[in-house]
Amino acid sequence: MARVRTTDTEFVLREGETLLEGLERTGHAVEYQCRSGYCGSCRLRLVSGEVVYSEMPMAFVAVDEVLPCCCHAATSEVEVVCGLIQAHIRPFPE
Ligand code: FES
Repeated sequence: MARVRTTDTEFVLREGETLLEGLERTGHAVEYQCRSGYCGSCRLRLVSGEVVYSEMPMAFVAVDEVLPCCCHAATSEVEVVCGLIQAHIRPFPE
């Protein structure tokens, strides 16, 4: 099991869980559409660590990016740029 560090917090990825599933379970604001590596809408910046894809994604992935919908952690720690949903909700200005 890998520890995932994000912009706002950290959590442990469960056995067999994709990075996207772990981010959703822990309340992170991550976008997605296909959930299978085709569209690229879930793309996140990878700060440290490595991931492995069960199948090579069709969407372009730069060296410092990951597609969390179809990858698992390949190292004991992975850090991505992704914040919690609550952190993105701002009250209306007065
Ligand atoms: S949701 Fe489409 S590539 Fe991840």
